[in-house]
Amino acid sequence: MPEAADRDREKMAAARAAALRVRPGTRVALGTGTTATLAIRAIAERFPHGEGIEAVASSRATEALARSLGWPLRSLEEISSFDLMVDGADEVTERLDVTKGHGGALFREKLLARLTREVVLVVDSSKMVDRLGARAAIPVEVVPFAQPVVRRALVDRGLRPDLRRGPDGRPWLTDNANELLDVRPPAPLADPARLDAELRALPGVVDTGLFVGLVHRVIVGHADGSVEERVAPGKPA
Ligand code: 5RP
Repeated sequence: MPEAADRDREKMAAARAAALRVRPGTRVALGTGTTATLAIRAIAERFPHGEGIEAVASSRATEALARSLGWPLRSLEEISSFDLMVDGADEVTERLDVTKGHGGALFREKLLARLTREVVLVVDSSKMVDRLGARAAIPVEVVPFAQPVVRRALVDRGLRPDLRRGPDGRPWLTDNANELLDVRPPAPLADPARLDAELRALPGVVDTGLFVGLVHRVIVGHADGSVEERVAPGKPA
């Protein structure tokens, strides 16, 4: 695990490389989190006047950031397909399957990723894992009314769900006014697509933080400013 200062340099290197993929007029979906924030700032530095870039934000936090940078944001009413999404991740495998949602924006992030031609994630080297569930819990967004039922169903499947709480001890709410269960599997996942489908089939589950087959490219930053780009199997380089 890199030291915090190195991790910050790694994130910055990845963020700058992702910003180079944006062109004037790109329709871009903006992710959420500390690394996505660096990438958004790097894009704004490259295109201080917007240059026709049209963006939709994946969270209220990113919306506020984009507005503070003077970016005219669009809604899904106005644009519903994107050339590029730039976002962070919590875990990334060799195949570019990913866990996301520690910032709690997983539903909107996953929706935007499904509408995007090229999903590019920016990460520091600590995020690389052999299997998902190895170091991060899997966030699952649930409708509050159904949360106790979903929680019991997860326990019955041998999973360990923890209700995410805010500093006041109350359930933490997503931008969609839903609750989050942070789910730990008994062992790192051999088949994340199957678990994702099983969880999404439970009534009350809105979505999970498992992104399987949705990501095209991951840019891993190094502390010396260089980056390593990985492309998902079967996706164009
Ligand atoms: C938010 C996310 C974030 O992109 C993910 O948690 C990574 O965040 P960071 O770059 O701060 O480590 O999925 O829902």
